[in-house]
Formats: sequence, C-alpha cells, structure tokens
Amino acid sequence: MCGIVGAVASRNITPILVEGLKRLEYRGYDSCGVAVHADGGLKRARSVSRVAELAREVEQTQLAGFTGIAHTRWATHGAPVLTNAHPHFSRDRIALVHNGIIENHEALREELKMRGYVFESQTDTEVIAHMIDHLYQGDLFVAVQQAVQRLHGAYAIAAFCRDEPHRVVGARAGSPLIVGVGQGENFIASDAMALAGVTDQIIYLEEGDVVDLQLGRVWIVDRAGSELGAAERPVKTVLAHSGAVELGPYRHYMQKEIFEQPRAIAETLEGVEGFVPDLFGANAAATLDAVDSVLILACGTSYYSGLTAKYWLESIAKIPCNVEVASEYRYRDSVPNPRALVVTISQSGETADTMAALKHAKSLGHLHTLTICNVATSAMVRECALAYITRAGIEIGVASTKAFTTQLAALFLLTLVLAKQRGHLSAQDEAAHLKALRHLPVALQSVLDLEPQIISWSEEFARKENALFLGRGLHYPVALEGALKLKEISYIHAEAYPAGELKHGPLALVTAAMPVVVVAPNDSLIEKLKSNLQEVRARGGELFVFADADSHISEGEGLHVIRLPEHYGVLSPILHVVPLQLLAYHTARVRGTDVDKPRNLAKSVTVE
Ligand code: M6R
Repeated sequence: MCGIVGAVASRNITPILVEGLKRLEYRGYDSCGVAVHADGGLKRARSVSRVAELAREVEQTQLAGFTGIAHTRWATHGAPVLTNAHPHFSRDRIALVHNGIIENHEALREELKMRGYVFESQTDTEVIAHMIDHLYQGDLFVAVQQAVQRLHGAYAIAAFCRDEPHRVVGARAGSPLIVGVGQGENFIASDAMALAGVTDQIIYLEEGDVVDLQLGRVWIVDRAGSELGAAERPVKTVLAHSGAVELGPYRHYMQKEIFEQPRAIAETLEGVEGFVPDLFGANAAATLDAVDSVLILACGTSYYSGLTAKYWLESIAKIPCNVEVASEYRYRDSVPNPRALVVTISQSGETADTMAALKHAKSLGHLHTLTICNVATSAMVRECALAYITRAGIEIGVASTKAFTTQLAALFLLTLVLAKQRGHLSAQDEAAHLKALRHLPVALQSVLDLEPQIISWSEEFARKENALFLGRGLHYPVALEGALKLKEISYIHAEAYPAGELKHGPLALVTAAMPVVVVAPNDSLIEKLKSNLQEVRARGGELFVFADADSHISEGEGLHVIRLPEHYGVLSPILHVVPLQLLAYHTARVRGTDVDKPRNLAKSVTVE
C-alpha cells in the first residue's frame, strides 16, 4: 500500500527518493511521483507506470533538489491516473504526500472550495495540501500541526513548502511513518527498508506525532504539542536488509519466497530447546498462566494461520479458542473476556484492520496481548505485551507464503507452551514434537522437490476459470489458503470448503469444467474424505489430490494424485500448503499475470 519517502539534505536527493520508492514497491502501488524544491519553486514528476519509468523521467528532466518528497500510491479515492498521483501541490507553495484515508474529506473539500481553492484531483489527499496552505503563516510546522487537527481518519503525511527550502514536516495517525537520522541531513519514510543504505538510525513515530526535519535537527511533538525527546522517541539502529530484494535465480519474488521456506522455518525455530513461556517474552509465564482462552485477530492469510492454530490449541492445549476476522471484530458487539489471551497475527505488523481490532479489544478491557509478527520494529509488536517474531525475512510478493508457514511454526510453539503449562504435554510428546519441528526444514525441502509434477498440473489449471478446494479438520484452513493464493495471483475464481459441506450446496457447481483440489493427508478424517472424493467423481468432477505417503489414494480416471513424501501428523498443514502455493504460482505464471504485484492488491494494507 502507499509508500512515502522524504529528505532534507545538502546534496541532490532525487536518487535517494527514487531508490527509496523502489524499496517500497513491494507494498503495492498503481502510480508514483516525486517532488523537489528547485529553482525557488516546486517541481515534480509523476507516473502511472512503474518506479523505473518515473526514474527515467527524473533523469531525462534532470529533476534535482536538496529537499523533496516521493510517493507510491495505491488508489482509494479516485482512479490511478496522473492527476491523482502524489505529490499534490497547493497554490504552487505546498507539496504533500499522504498514506491513509481522510474520512471527512468531502466536508473539507467544500470548505476549501468556498475559500477559493481549485481541486485538480479526486483524492482525499488534496484537501490536506490546501488546508496546510490555508493555515500557512510562514511556519510549515505550525501549519501542519493545525491542519492535522482538522482531519478525521488515518494519515501519514510529509510536506514541504516553497518558502522554507530546507524543511520537511511529517505527521502520523493510523498509518506508519519513521524518521531516518543522518549526518547533517534527515529523512522520513513509511518504513526503514526505504532508507537502507542511506541511514540505519531510525526513530519510530507514534500516533499523533508531528515531526520537523531540518538539515541538522529533528524536532518531534505529540498531538498536544509537547516536545518529545530521546527518552520518548529514541533513535534505534535498524539493519534493514537491502540484499533481500535481490531475485537471485528465481523469476519472481513469490517463487523465491516459497523456496526460502526451509530456511525461514529453521530461523524462526532457531534457539528453541523446549516449550517455555520465555519464548514469548520475559514476563510471559504469568500471563500465559492467567489466561483461560485465546482470541485470535487477523486478516487474510494470517487469519487462516489463526484458523489452523484453533485446531491445535483446542486439541493439544485444551484451551478454548476463537478466531475472528479483524475487520469484523473491530465493529461488532462482542462479549469481552478479560482472561482471554488476545493474539494478533500479522506478517507486516502494520495491517490497519488488525491494529484497530487489537486496540478495540484493549478498549473492551482485554488485558493480555501477544502478537505473532514478522517485523520486530512494527507498531503491532510495540502495541502488544508479548511477541514472537517470526524470522521469515522480508516478504516482497504480495501473496504471502513464507510468512504463513513461519506463523504456523510460531503458533505451534504457543500451543505447546500452553499445553505444557496446563499439564497436557507429556515428556515423551514434548520430545517427539521437538524432533518433528527440527526435521521440518528437511521435510519442506522434499515437498519443494515436487515442483516439476505441480508444473504439469498448472498447465491445465491455467485454462480454467473456476476451482474448488477441499480439506477437512486441520487441512480446511489449508484449503482456504490454497484458494486465496490461486485467486489473488491467477485471477481464477476459487472457493474452499470443508469437504463435509460439499453436499450442502457446492456440489451443485461440480462439472467436468471445475477442477477440485483436495488436501488429503492420512489423518483421522481420511476415510470420510475419500467418500467426499467419490461424491465429486460421481458428478463427473476432476480431482487433483495432494495426498501423502500413507493416504492410499491411487490415480484413476479423473483422479490425479501428487503424493507428499512423508506423513507429518499435526504439523502436516505446514507441508501441505506448499504444493498449493506452487500450484497457484505456476498457474499464474502460465497465465502471464503480474505474480508479485497482482492487480488491485497491496502488500501492506495500511488503510481500512
Ligand atoms: O501483514 P498481514 O499479515 O497483517 O496481512 C494480512 C493480509 O492482508 C495478507 O495476508 C493478505 O491476505 C495476503 N495478500 C495474502 O496472500
């Protein structure tokens, strides 16, 4: 989703701004732009193409300056056309970029029109630029402080002014923003990745902060205007990997990330010698002891990892668990249980709905919070008392892959810690689980070796427009995840059902034109699942089954089988999702879609 980079320096900063945008491309965008202070005025370049195209334009037009801002836009208000691309200008005096959504933009637009402002875009952002201009009386910092008081909604903004050439002012509420501190130069960005190679000295701004960046100073105030020093907003050294953005031998980041899973799981589990509460934080023992249930809040793929964890938590740790879609939970009336452990799951740690759901849970009196998150410095980690940081490494493909499997590994650890604390884990089972976890990277590698067989299936899938995914028990969420992967990158309509639900409706869809993908490990439900397969075959449906070594399902007419090398017991979802990721990836590749940046989607969904 939208990305911001800004800089104030004594050197030409357009290369830094453009490079920063390249590093933010993974968040997803449909237009981009850069503006600098040059020749005593505001100059900009914008593009509805890729950042590489913008970079060419910047070079051709020799756009250069010491102060500037840049942006990748993911359209919310107004189509992805040039006039809606950021930066927006007001009266050729104020330049501004914005992430988030301004909910009262219509009222502000009317007010500003009455004051004579002419709007060039359909964006909610343009009202902020004009509002700052309207309030400007020679001090940009003051004007921004006043303007943000008028905004309802979520924003991270960066602005500069024609009349104050060495100053960039930023503000945040509901959308992430960080400051990069340099030597006699300072930067602002959506995340530390954007500034990799420029500075590793990072300040994380908090809700309501307004920041004044000048050449030799960073000045931060809170919503009330009180100055915040190093104690409240410390400078942290953040090693944002730049190497992670290299593709290596892979065609797409998604493929690379699928193949990184053995390493990602190994690193996520590194140092785990037993199932002790300390894995989740120094004070975790008391909290995990005090809780009587688990409430999981998440979106998308992270929600599906939560659904899988529910099966583990209730069957192994014997603790009740509810899993809620964050965007629903935040707005529905629920009955809070202060003794529940609220667990948020998020790759980015920035997802607006999950953050809002967490805050909502706290406001209802929930006391115990824990996050499973892939970004140690994210707002989610800062907002939760306990955390487990997955070590998937940066995930660039919009379709989440290694984040999912590492989340599952972390959630399995949580299950076993809770089980042990409650006396539901024998020493023998503990040793067996530890052994299985340690073997996971090897087991994953042997699943990845099935890629050639999956490629042969993908040719046929690429010709279809609909697909059905079936699973039972622990593998129902895996079927959901497989369907999500296929639809988001190949644009094939895909639905997932618990196989037992087939005859309650979806069976009506089954014809020879509808491939049915089945996740069929040899678990306690395998015989029931085999009956469901018969129901599909009897209606002429074509089955594509991911079985495992012990499933005893054989190839036949209309029944294709790929067999995973091992049966992996309760950890099987971590293995079984991998062929579904590969099937989605290769199907999308055959169809020629933009695998890493699928249409309409963004990596970090930082707006509601
Ligand atoms: O960063 P998060 O895990 O909070 O993101 C949640 C979803 O937006 C994300 O999983 C999304 O569904 C992915 N595109 C799925 O591949």
